[in-house]
Formats: sequence, structure tokens, C-alpha cells
Amino acid sequence: MPDATPDLIFQVANGFMAAKHLFVANEVGLFVALAASPATLDTLAQRTGIPRRTLRILADAMVALGFLERQGDQYQNTPVSSTFLSGRTPTDLRPALRYWNHLNYQRWTELEAVVRTEQAGFGEFAFTAEEQQLYTEGVEAFNAGTARALATTYEFARHRKVLDLGGGIGSFLLAVLRQYTHVEATLFDLPAVATLARQRLAGSPVATRLRIVEGDFFTEPLPANHDVILIANVFHNFLPERNRALLERVCACAPAGARLLLVDAWTDPTHTQPLMAALMAGAFLLVTGEGDVYSAEEVRDWLQATGWRMLEGKPLAGLSSLLVAEKAA
Ligand SMILES: C[S@@+](CC[C@H](N)C(=O)[O-])C[C@H]1O[C@@H](n2cnc3c(N)ncnc32)[C@H](O)[C@@H]1O
Repeated sequence: MPDATPDLIFQVANGFMAAKHLFVANEVGLFVALAASPATLDTLAQRTGIPRRTLRILADAMVALGFLERQGDQYQNTPVSSTFLSGRTPTDLRPALRYWNHLNYQRWTELEAVVRTEQAGFGEFAFTAEEQQLYTEGVEAFNAGTARALATTYEFARHRKVLDLGGGIGSFLLAVLRQYTHVEATLFDLPAVATLARQRLAGSPVATRLRIVEGDFFTEPLPANHDVILIANVFHNFLPERNRALLERVCACAPAGARLLLVDAWTDPTHTQPLMAALMAGAFLLVTGEGDVYSAEEVRDWLQATGWRMLEGKPLAGLSSLLVAEKAA
């Protein structure tokens, strides 16, 4: 018998407990309650309105996981929770945790059925208004670092008009427009998301250079005459044949020499690295019933078959990287 311990099984199988403790700590406002000052359990119970007995279980789990520290009877945020979960910084990941808790966590209970049958019991991007807001704000929070990284990593100075297909509520375009004051932009997304984008962007100083167009990028006309087209975190929602069809449609509306920027959690050729991308494949599957992760090599083949030429790849932030292509002559 080779040497083996069950540690890996326990560590992975218990992962949902850590996740759910963290979601609930966020929901009851534990990190926000500690933003101003450390506190005892009694004070924390007062600040959150949560019973002392159950709050203690949550707070001590957060200490064990590294989200809180306890000195004597005083609890306080650690640097990670104070930077991302206290509600006091621009790097606010609370909407991402809310999305995972309220929407994604429920969907994971359907993983077995979807894996067994390939059939999802939910529609593609079929969200209620409340779920749509959770999804869109969660995605924005999750991808905020990547949006900032794209605006500093890719040289938009050579471009005049940028089109963001499936642009959500505009986080990528806001970062680009703030940095490049000569650039104009079009955001294209489904009607429900376009409505949220209009609300989110109203009053922004860059809104005068940003047009929002609503529609379905698989079936409706795409805005033409943009010399750079961004598609961020879209391909992981769809089957390869639909992604190739989208690339073909985009090529047909792009002017000669247009650039295409593809941002996603591109993996190695085996789809097993990075680890988090391999796990996210399950989350992507459960958004539409057909999502997955793809490798840069697969995308290069799709590009070649649809009128594009891959130029280069660059890391952005976290799991995300950028693939740059140009419309083939
Ligand atoms: C994962 S989100 C990415 C949002 C944004 N690009 C980002 O990276 O943060 C995928 C986006 O694609 C949009 N989308 C999905 N199917 C679409 C379709 N058929 N036509 C237009 N937009 C679509 C969704 O509404 C959603 O905003």
C-alpha cells in the first residue's frame, strides 16, 4: 500500500463549511462592525444584533480561518478582511460574497444533476430582477482588479472607439475611459443588464463618452466601426461552437485591422491549472448550463477559424489574462 492519509479528503470535503461561515459572517456584518475598532463579543452582539451564543461560533471560525484576530476578549479584523470586507475601502468584495451566498451556492446543489445529464434545470442568464442585481454586482466586484489591470496593461492610446460586448455594468470601460480621455466607448449587453448599467453610470464624469446599447450578441446586429473590441468573462459561459459563432459575428462588424481583446480565466492546455480556474469551471457551468474554462491554445484555434490572428497573451490580475488578436488581412 502506498503511504496515504485522508487529510486531502477532509480538507476538500469540508471546504463548504469554511465558505458558508465566511458568507454568513459577511451577511451579518461582522467585518463592518469591526471596521472602526476592535470589540468584545458583547459589543459585537450589540453592533450586529446577532445573539451572543451563535455569534461566538461564527467569530471563532473567522479567527481560525484568518479573517479575524482575537487578543484576550477583543476581536479585530485582519488585514485581508479590513481591506476587502470592512466596507471602508474601494476594494470592496462584499458583493462577490453576497452573490456566492445567495445565488451561486444554491446553484451548486444542482451540480450533480447537471454533470449526470448535461441538462440544466435553469435557463441561460435567466435571473429574477433581484438575482440579476446580485449577479451583476458580484461579477463587478470579483473582476474589479482585472478591470483596473486591463486599463494599465493594454495600450489603448492607439485606439479611438472601444466596444465592450457583454460589458456588464461598465467596470472595464470606466477604467479605460478614466485613463484614456480621447477614447469613446460602447457597452453592449442584454436589456436587463443595460438598464442596471444606465443606473450605475448616470452622473459619471465619463458618461458623455459612453453609449449603452442593449441586445443579444448572438442574434442581433452588433455596433459597427469600433477599432478595438473587448470581450471579458463571456466565453466561459458558452459552448465552444457558440463562442466561435460569436467570434465570426464580431469579425463581420469589425473594421480592417481592428483589435480584439479577450479577457478570461484562460487555463493551461490540460484545464487543470490554475487550480481555481479548474474549480471555477463548475461555477461557470452552473450559470448557463453550458459554461466551462478554455485554454489559450483552444482560443487561438477558434480565432484562426473565424478571421482573426492571435498576437499575444498577457497576465492581468488573479486568474485573468488577456489574449490580443487582430482582424486578419
Ligand atoms: C460574467 S459577465 C461579464 C461582465 C463583464 N464583461 C465583466 O467581465 O465583468 C457576462 C456578461 O455577458 C452578458 N451576456 C450574456 N449573454 C449575452 C448575450 N446573448 N448578449 C449580450 N450580452 C450577454 C451578461 O449579461 C453579462 O453581463
